[in-house]
Amino acid sequence: MPYSTVQASSALSKPISILTLRKMKEAGEKFVTVALYDAPMAAMAQKSGVEVLLVGDSLGMTVLGYDSTIPVTMEQMIYHVEAVKRGNDKSLIMGDLPFMTYATPEQAMTNAARVMQAGAHMVKIEGGAWLAPTVQMLSERGIPVCAHLGLTPQSVNKFGGFRVQGRDDEGAEQILEDARLLDAAGADLLVLECVPCDLARRITEAVSMPTIGIGAGKETDAQVLVINDILGLTEKPPKFSKNFLVEAGDIPGALRKYANDVKTGVFPSPEHTFG
Ligand code: KIV
Repeated sequence: MPYSTVQASSALSKPISILTLRKMKEAGEKFVTVALYDAPMAAMAQKSGVEVLLVGDSLGMTVLGYDSTIPVTMEQMIYHVEAVKRGNDKSLIMGDLPFMTYATPEQAMTNAARVMQAGAHMVKIEGGAWLAPTVQMLSERGIPVCAHLGLTPQSVNKFGGFRVQGRDDEGAEQILEDARLLDAAGADLLVLECVPCDLARRITEAVSMPTIGIGAGKETDAQVLVINDILGLTEKPPKFSKNFLVEAGDIPGALRKYANDVKTGVFPSPEHTFG
């Protein structure tokens, strides 16, 4: 669907599944994701037409005050997935597996089952080719998986900081190859975080699963932002984020504006993008 013909977002009328999102990719229709952590925000997101809710381990930084996502525990993730689930019965809920809870396929299976039983419809895990057997194992056992490539925050110490990934040819080709392998292994979604927009476009064209960008330009199939950034709660907001509360005036309006700007291709603009 051409960007300009998409209408303002309204409340979700039926539950969103991974099939809904695949059909949207095929139709060229953008979908909207918000990382959030509690029932009232989850309810507002449903009313604002947000298709996917990510209960991200970013909650370690946005809610719990840690300086990275590494200290986040399974118990914290489950607590927040349950809260989000209580607030929303239409959006697709995705729960992060926290640091070092999916280091082996067996460990991933045990912990993914707990997140699913807390109310998530799928789990998200960070990493490249090494995760292909894990994706296949979860997928074969009925657990949809969202892969996460580019700036994977659980690896911040390996990267030496929160830095854009895939800027050089070798790094870009590695991320593209990882995306292809995870797609073939059965991943259902792919988050691309802080990668050049041209690389995100190439990956989006190369894989069958929908891609969700954050700091990856406008050519991905969807966008995700963290609720704290949407509402201007972040002291030093990242370049790729935008405070939608300033223009909208209230929280439901900010969510609707974000959703509408994603669907119409207004957000992200070049100022939110790495070239
Ligand atoms: O944890 C999170 O919220 C995330 C998004 C920033 C993609 O992984």
